[in-house]
Amino acid sequence: MGEDTTELARVKVGSRVSLPPATKKGEMSVEEAVARRRSVRDFTADALSLAEISQLLWSAHGLTSAEGLRAAPSAGACYPLEVYLACEQGLFRYQPSEHALVKVSDADPRQPLAEAAYGQFFISDAAVSIIFAAVYERTTARYGDRGIRYVHMDIGHAAQNVHLQAEALGLASVPVGAFDDSAVASVLSLPAEEKTVYIVPVGRPARG
Ligand SMILES: Cc1cc2nc3c(=O)[nH]c(=O)nc-3n(C[C@H](O)[C@H](O)[C@H](O)COP(=O)(O)O)c2cc1C
Repeated sequence: MGEDTTELARVKVGSRVSLPPATKKGEMSVEEAVARRRSVRDFTADALSLAEISQLLWSAHGLTSAEGLRAAPSAGACYPLEVYLACEQGLFRYQPSEHALVKVSDADPRQPLAEAAYGQFFISDAAVSIIFAAVYERTTARYGDRGIRYVHMDIGHAAQNVHLQAEALGLASVPVGAFDDSAVASVLSLPAEEKTVYIVPVGRPARG
């Protein structure tokens, strides 16, 4: 990991690490990011910087208005998602309101996560994985069963932001929907109401 991520290793479980503010200006246009985005499964061993991690999490679920609206749309602004970062230094929960990470666990979850995803070992090769978990009740309380599809749409929006942001940063990503739900639940030990729906490994592309 880069020097600026040593704080991720040092921080104790339950404590918070502030992320650097996300930038709103990049070097690649949204059109170019859309045109270039590809699912990539070959990553170098290089780590990401804290600035890159900050940018990816902000694009997933960061605040973009003083009223608390987020980078991705959400049906009824119910915001059913909880976003996690899995990396060498452990598992972290993203706090949009503070643009910060709270350490959940010291153990690197990437290898067991790859095993829980039927041996998709590019998950453990990638520097980080962004994990999208849903608290369905936040949306179904308002929309009933139709809320289930809304939650999945919310996740698609947030994940696509991550893919495009990764591309714009010169990074690579792939969406992973194929995994054993109960195996992932036991690796991550999230609160029972949070169901993991999507895993997005992000790293530096090995080729190109
Ligand atoms: C809902 C969904 C689930 C996916 N799950 C996986 C997965 O578990 N493993 C994987 O390697 N790719 C997965 N993919 C990536 C697709 O294989 C990929 O998007 C498709 O082949 C098109 O290639 P592209 O993303 O490069 O355009 C998934 C994509 C979507 C949209």
